[in-house]
Amino acid sequence: MTGLSHPSSIAMETWLRSAVWLCLLVSVCHAAAPAEEENPEFWRKQAREVLQSALKRKLNTNVAKNIVLFLGDGMGITTMTAARILKGQLQNRTGEETVMTMDTFPHVGLVKVYCVDFQIPDSAATATAYLCGVKSNLFTVGVNAAGRNGVCRTQKGNEVTSILKWAKDAGKSVGIVTTTRVQHATPAASYAHSVNRKWYSDADVPAPAKREGCTDIASQLLNNTDIDVIIGGGRKYMTPKGTRDPEYPTDLSAGGKRTDGRNLISEWLRMKEGKVARYVWNRTDFDAVDPATTDYLMALFEPGDMRFEVERDPAMDPSITETTEKAIRILRKNPKGFFLLVEGGRIDQGHHSSRAAVALHETVAFDNAIARALELTSEDDTLTLVTADHSHSLSFNGFPFRGNSILGKSPLFGTDMLPYTTLMYGNGPGHKIVNNKRPDIRKVDTGSKDYVQQAAAPMTTETHGGEDVAVMARGPMSHLFHGIQEQSYIPYALAYAACIGQDQSHCVFQQSSVPTPTVFNSAPVPPFVHLTAVLLSVLLAAALH
Ligand SMILES: *[C@@H]1O[C@H](CO)[C@@H](O)[C@H](O)[C@H]1NC(C)=O
Ligand SMILES: *[C@@H]1O[C@H](CO)[C@@H](O)[C@H](O)[C@H]1NC(C)=O
Ligand SMILES: *[C@@H]1O[C@H](CO)[C@@H](O)[C@H](O)[C@H]1NC(C)=O
Ligand SMILES: [Zn+2]
Repeated sequence: MTGLSHPSSIAMETWLRSAVWLCLLVSVCHAAAPAEEENPEFWRKQAREVLQSALKRKLNTNVAKNIVLFLGDGMGITTMTAARILKGQLQNRTGEETVMTMDTFPHVGLVKVYCVDFQIPDSAATATAYLCGVKSNLFTVGVNAAGRNGVCRTQKGNEVTSILKWAKDAGKSVGIVTTTRVQHATPAASYAHSVNRKWYSDADVPAPAKREGCTDIASQLLNNTDIDVIIGGGRKYMTPKGTRDPEYPTDLSAGGKRTDGRNLISEWLRMKEGKVARYVWNRTDFDAVDPATTDYLMALFEPGDMRFEVERDPAMDPSITETTEKAIRILRKNPKGFFLLVEGGRIDQGHHSSRAAVALHETVAFDNAIARALELTSEDDTLTLVTADHSHSLSFNGFPFRGNSILGKSPLFGTDMLPYTTLMYGNGPGHKIVNNKRPDIRKVDTGSKDYVQQAAAPMTTETHGGEDVAVMARGPMSHLFHGIQEQSYIPYALAYAACIGQDQSHCVFQQSSVPTPTVFNSAPVPPFVHLTAVLLSVLLAAALH
């Protein structure tokens, strides 16, 4: 025994101290709970209303004319719950009872996120799953699992296309909106094929890979699918070395990166000659873009990723709600409909730096964008999905009282006699041991955007988490998103709902052989008669044997 006193008696003492505190605080803090909740009728009435609307809900079997896919990068379920509480607390409510926009979606499932070579995936492999319908290896975008991370010769022949391309091939307008650089893993998987997600510009592609024919992601933004709306950051990968950034002309690291001398922005504008195409890099020009008369929009607001919502300069950069709105207004002019990917891309980066406040504010902003999209579209013809690519090592620790700040501290102390925050990380930069103890945060404002939450294991950047993520769906065929599925199921079901892509055997086509799906509402033949018949005959066959 080297300890000064018996460890179990310390533990007991601490436990008692915590319990006393808890009891004391329970009697003091109960006032935080809304009074109406003491009436059992409050809960019964609420339940009755939800039940009634569930009973009244009919399956929506329309063809999805439009698809809006909202992807919260790193938005695990713990993040969703914590952001919900923050959203309520920002409106001076207790928070837990808040209904986020994503909470209102009628159909919900869980998604298994592992990739082919890793138990816990990255945004590249997962984007390939939920956009291209194929699970792949870590770090690769738009190639199947025979493509090896960074090995150019394994790319050719292993490319897989995405739902964005399938939609464009079907005559729809397509767009990507993100808060990261538009060449980042999530949007990249919608238009590019690269065995390395970091090959943003040609300067990032190693010479041997170039000789073997691999090209950078930014050039593929022009060369692959004709994308109508491109909004996010990432200017520096589009212009030649030596080009000064228009917003940060004295910051050389913000300037052009390309070594091939190409200016992809002017090339893009030239490619769209004869159409109304606009390139903007700031809020003034963005606001002046009239969606009614604009065919193509490329908006790149930062040299790299856009700023975090809590650090955004609203005079220079629009919010994700505004960029989503502009995209929808441009895309929805197409009578054949549209596909839009909206990425809340920096929830993930907030978590990697273990600044929970930043990650949660990103998530609240993302939810606001979803609300705007629902206002601008109709549940009758627009299938809206909200999901995440993967989770993080964020944990939501007991036992804060009702209404306690989600960025605050638990009323319980640890056995080390120190408080801890409700939100902490399994690993990350917040791990510190000072005099053999965790840092004392009693006087620290843990709600600050710069506060770094503590972590069990030290890492310079916190890692992803591996548990299932949620998928929430609303609109035509949204009931296909149910149960616990592989992440690669998502685009398959989206394509089925929209009658695009390879499997259209269930779709009703017009007289001409042109594959123009008829809106089932106005068609006499119900869409799933065929499928039902097949199912019935299979069941019948089984019963007869
Ligand atoms: C919440 O309360 C604070 C402080 O009383 C006030 O400044 C703020 O405007 C309130 N916010 C809302 C959304 O009511
Ligand atoms: C771009 O596409 C054209 C065909 O449209 C093709 O000839 C060319 O090789 C492509 N360039 C790159 C760099 O992939
Ligand atoms: C926005 O961009 C345009 C075009 O480059 C430029 O003329 C204008 O000065 C910029 N506005 C601001 C506020 O920087
Ligand atoms: Zn990440």
